[in-house]
Amino acid sequence: MKFSQFGLKFTQDAGILSLMEDLGHALTVNQNMMMLGGGNPGKVPGVVRILQKRLADIAKDPESVYRLLGIYDPPQGNVKLIRALVKLFNDLYEWPIQEENVCLTNGSQSAFFMLFNLMAGQYPDESFKKIQFPLTPEYIGYADEGITPHIFTASKPRIEMQNPPFFKYHVDFDRLSIDDRVAAICVSRPTNPTGNMLTDDEINKLDRIARENQIPLIIDNAYGVPFPQIVYQKATPFWNDNTILCMSLSKLGLPSVRTGIVIGPAEITQALAKMNAILTLSPVGVGSQLVLDLVESGDICRISREVIQPFYRTKMQQTVQWIQDAFSGLDYAIHQPEGAMFLWLWFPNLPVSSLELYERLKQKGVLVVSGHYFFPGLSEDWDHTAQCIRMTYSQENTMVKRGIEIMAETLREL
Ligand SMILES: Cc1ncc(COP(=O)(O)O)c(C=O)c1O
Repeated sequence: MKFSQFGLKFTQDAGILSLMEDLGHALTVNQNMMMLGGGNPGKVPGVVRILQKRLADIAKDPESVYRLLGIYDPPQGNVKLIRALVKLFNDLYEWPIQEENVCLTNGSQSAFFMLFNLMAGQYPDESFKKIQFPLTPEYIGYADEGITPHIFTASKPRIEMQNPPFFKYHVDFDRLSIDDRVAAICVSRPTNPTGNMLTDDEINKLDRIARENQIPLIIDNAYGVPFPQIVYQKATPFWNDNTILCMSLSKLGLPSVRTGIVIGPAEITQALAKMNAILTLSPVGVGSQLVLDLVESGDICRISREVIQPFYRTKMQQTVQWIQDAFSGLDYAIHQPEGAMFLWLWFPNLPVSSLELYERLKQKGVLVVSGHYFFPGLSEDWDHTAQCIRMTYSQENTMVKRGIEIMAETLREL
């Protein structure tokens, strides 16, 4: 069978495909694997209990079951949830958003697919525009989302060495060059894979640059405030009429309901609604029904702050300690964990590539993600891209600890 250009592009080997295959198998059929790979949220008992109760309440009432499963929402998404989100954000942050500024999608992964291809690629006047990542490493899931190849461009970060074993990436504004070939600037905050929390100063500068160039600033807030709030560092939430803020229910503990939330200029959110209709008729409504009460009451923020954030913070601190114990004497550094559910490990003198290290660990039953996938759009050669791996600490403690011990043994062998 021969495939179209689109077919070929979307069936090639992709980092996100390998990651999701590893993750999906490890969490379903092959449970002996130590899953330190993809970003599946952890099993947070307090959250599971809330969902269990909500599902039980729904199951008791036929009308609620019908609302949960039996209705296509409009292409912009569940109207009640959109209303509740608008109220929540405006009350919390005094933002001026209206219902037309919000569109729901089937997970934020598909929101990014629509956003990137809406703005980047070939224009009717034959010009070609790209999405700029001002800070790499950046989220692996963006890398293969362009319908047209080469729609991303990125610049190297500045590296700040902190108290050993920590370091931190910063946007290198001297390297960042934006011209009329850039359609939008995009950052994840907290950043997947590094756990970096871009500072308020960095965000304000990026906002200014975006406005000066009359392009939007996309902020991927999949782990951010006010939900799921997997953030260990103070940072001000950001939105204005030039920002496209993307959120998700996944990291709250609901990845399978596939609910993404985009808050942006109406021109963008209404375009997404039109694309939703063509691609999926209507975004999945199960997540909207499940969290509606929590959003209306504001409990979604309290649960994030009181249950979800401490769960991940404790795991992060514990995991850093295990690494420091197991890696003693090895040459390594850890990106300062300021949020999200990952540690980004840098081995400056790794004698093999990070991909080879991933393969060796996989053979020993430990899944991580090779760091080289996290530099979408970076065209400069940089040894650093083959010296890092990402590991998640979201899964069960004994597995994370054992995985780290095996990683230490493997690094010592190398
Ligand atoms: C930074 C970031 N953005 C977007 C996504 C996509 O998540 P979802 O499609 O489940 O909302 C993820 C998932 O891991 C992520 O880490």
